[in-house]
Amino acid sequence: MREPCVTDVLVIGAGIAGLSAAVAAAAKLRVTVLTKAASSSESATRYAQGGVAAALSPADSPELHFEDTIQAGDGLCDPDAVRVLVHEGPDRVRDLIDWGLQFDTVNGELVFGREGAHRLHRVLHAHGDATGEMIQRTLVARARGLEPVALLKSHFTLKLLVHQGCCRGAYVADEESGDVVPILARATVLATGGLGRIYRSTTNPAVATGDGAALAYRAGAEMADLEFVQFHPTALMLPGAPPFLISEAVRGEGALLRGAGGERFMPKYHPMAELAPRDVVSRAILSELRRSGAETVFLDVTHLDAAFIRERFPTISKTCDSYGIDITRQPIPVHPSAHYSMGGAATDVWGRTSVPGLYACGEVACTGIHGANRLASNSLLEGLVFGHRAAHAILEEAPPLLHVAPARIDWHPARTDIEPTIRRLREVMWDNVGIARDAEGLRRALAALHELEPAAAAPSLDPRTAELRNMLTVGRLIAEAALVREESRGGHYRTDFPTHDDARWRRHILFVRGDTMVRERLSLG
Ligand code: SIN
Repeated sequence: MREPCVTDVLVIGAGIAGLSAAVAAAAKLRVTVLTKAASSSESATRYAQGGVAAALSPADSPELHFEDTIQAGDGLCDPDAVRVLVHEGPDRVRDLIDWGLQFDTVNGELVFGREGAHRLHRVLHAHGDATGEMIQRTLVARARGLEPVALLKSHFTLKLLVHQGCCRGAYVADEESGDVVPILARATVLATGGLGRIYRSTTNPAVATGDGAALAYRAGAEMADLEFVQFHPTALMLPGAPPFLISEAVRGEGALLRGAGGERFMPKYHPMAELAPRDVVSRAILSELRRSGAETVFLDVTHLDAAFIRERFPTISKTCDSYGIDITRQPIPVHPSAHYSMGGAATDVWGRTSVPGLYACGEVACTGIHGANRLASNSLLEGLVFGHRAAHAILEEAPPLLHVAPARIDWHPARTDIEPTIRRLREVMWDNVGIARDAEGLRRALAALHELEPAAAAPSLDPRTAELRNMLTVGRLIAEAALVREESRGGHYRTDFPTHDDARWRRHILFVRGDTMVRERLSLG
């Protein structure tokens, strides 16, 4: 183990939320940003296609954006947090523009796309469907240009350093040197993104293994709303190919969902048809597949202008081309896939978790803005707004550095092949804790996950085994929360409790490590 390093602010995660926090905190403090990826450009942000929802068009207002967000959240949004998001969002988007990001325009005016559950066109995009890539590049360039910011790649956080109940930094595995480095910090920001990789089918990149949620839980932070996992209705589904997101913006431009026989089916499920909230569309697809016995449904853009489709969705067109599908002539085979975790480390509107010194922003956090179901393209906005806010809270309140003596931690390369365990975990989660759940399946999942735990119980954890342990931890928490919530709401659908039950369940489920009881807090909504 190396001697401790010191920094003012330790940011774990280098996507939109982490980099926004880093850039804002660097106004006065030294910031170290870690990513476990081998490149500081890798993050879930990079793969975002749809864009950033922000009330910037003349037809729009923060109030309308507020209403759509609350409506999608299905009774569980925190209105104060949503107000912060929709009112501060436009300024944070303007920051990106000031830093060089060119959103798509026509005749010099920003163009706005539409996605599910938005009543109007509100979603800014850049280079068509390469919005995330453009944002990531802009933020990495901005952070790299700031002298107080150090960006470290291939650094995997093994454990948060908690001393007398306060977070004082983290133990980090430097995967290039093989050392463990304790990093002491005045404030630590979790911005590790999501957990989609715990499911067999996901739109998320390989880094999304729930590390931040597991770290926060083990550090004693309150975890909220974990049962709410969003399944994106349309991931490309082809034998042998990894699922690939087909943006909701494609439906926003007029794409239609069709069954195996070519028939449209969404109008019978929801008045907004293809642009209904995601949970509705995902369940409708599932029900069509059960009825027909087919493996996929189809997303059809063949009736739209081919040149426009290729220009508006270059990444999607090229990726489909690479699998031999010309989307302007053939419908795209799609299936729902795990996409986004609404739950995470519970925070206030300044990113503070329940552990002093520990902040969270982006997908790993549960600010309350998404409630039971996230409105499309609110997540990039969330990263911008709450990353910035967490930094401002830290600038106000970061305590002096405490030179605690770190415990000794070492790691060794894994001795056993953990891939079969990861595959089993992902199957268990998909089959039992997926789009439709019931008590029997959730209990089966908990038992199966428990059986897998020994594979990740080595005393000295290498980063890959530690990832597996994180996946098992968050998988168990999601299954437990899903078992407790005996109703259906937003992203959580119980076939044995298929309706809302506001009287019992318009409230949040919180877990704190060591609690065997679930604690409930009444929703503010
Ligand atoms: C998409 O482009 O459909 C995904 C956008 C989002 O998840 O908000």
